[in-house]
Amino acid sequence: MKVLKRSGHIGILTSGGDTPGLNAAIRGIGKTATNIGSMQVIGFRDGFRGLMENRSIRLDNGMLSGILTLGGTILGTSRDKPHKMPMGGKLVDMTDVIIENYHKNHLDVLVCLGGGGTLKNAYRLSKKGLNVITLPKTIDNDIVGTDMTFGFDTALGIAVEAIDRLHSTASSHHRIIFVEIMGHRVGWLALGAGLAGGADAILIPEIPYTIDKLAESILERVNRGKRFSIVAVAEGAINKTGADKIAAVEKQLDKAEGDKRKELKNQLKDLEKQYRGSTIQMVEELQKITRLETRLTILGHLQRGGTPSAADRLLATRLGTRAVHFIQEEKYGIMVAVKGNKTEAVPMEEVAGKINYVPKDHPLIISARNVGTSFGD
Ligand code: F6P
Repeated sequence: MKVLKRSGHIGILTSGGDTPGLNAAIRGIGKTATNIGSMQVIGFRDGFRGLMENRSIRLDNGMLSGILTLGGTILGTSRDKPHKMPMGGKLVDMTDVIIENYHKNHLDVLVCLGGGGTLKNAYRLSKKGLNVITLPKTIDNDIVGTDMTFGFDTALGIAVEAIDRLHSTASSHHRIIFVEIMGHRVGWLALGAGLAGGADAILIPEIPYTIDKLAESILERVNRGKRFSIVAVAEGAINKTGADKIAAVEKQLDKAEGDKRKELKNQLKDLEKQYRGSTIQMVEELQKITRLETRLTILGHLQRGGTPSAADRLLATRLGTRAVHFIQEEKYGIMVAVKGNKTEAVPMEEVAGKINYVPKDHPLIISARNVGTSFGD
């Protein structure tokens, strides 16, 4: 392992939706950098915006102490992108300013803690010549190239506890209770929480549902004397009609160019708006068909709040500490990933812009179907 330059500087920012475990990762990077190396660590506030505005804070031992168990991020976050920064009501490309501030702060490397969006932005900066490393965080677990993202385990625990609690009230009142779980594009959280919580139906974006099939599975439970049901729905769950329409436009988009491409992209946006995230409508339709009393609980940002689970603290700490080893080896343009028992450097170009969907034949789906869970398909 190389010995670090005394003058070295690591910049850190957290970007995208906050996630339990971010502070544990910041601590892991910071403490390792000072304990095994001799680098100074600078945190930038509110994601890429803070780097663009040069709002920074020295992450010394005092700052890093006592944050392992804290939820959120001590640095603050935002969804602002370097090349599309909201400025005075417009989106402006501020990449050059960000590059300038990277150099002004004498950074040797910028470590970006974020999800899929952050990864794409970090990759763009890396292609502009900056030394960049990312750590995969998101409660959605939708990043390719790592077994797991930190934040997922905590959110999973919160969603399972919610389902457990909804079970007793659903059973007492003989109701159907829908619980909407985060996950706009992928269904890892709804699938995991639904299966662990014993939901009777699980609806995820990867398996389009029909309301009739869902109703059928619930009425069949009623016939078996089960007077309540729990339905775990990912926020991005979609019915078959919507999924078919989206797939048809996506197919055309693959071959389209110029104005036609723009038009199809707009069509896609409209379809996404119309068909995704329509849990309230789904609940109303199901109540009409089954004539059973139905309620909806939307977990929302509860799933992102509070203290990280032990598993997330461990994962974030492992990834954070490992990032510093890669910095010592001057390995940049990478995402630090967990694979089995190991942590690895995955080239950003292999994973940026990709989505880790739930495979339709994933063991969890097979197990859920085996225990009689409906996917509404
Ligand atoms: O990316 C994580 C996530 O929590 C998604 O599950 C959810 O769709 C989205 O962020 C919500 O974003 P926001 O916090 O901006 O409302």
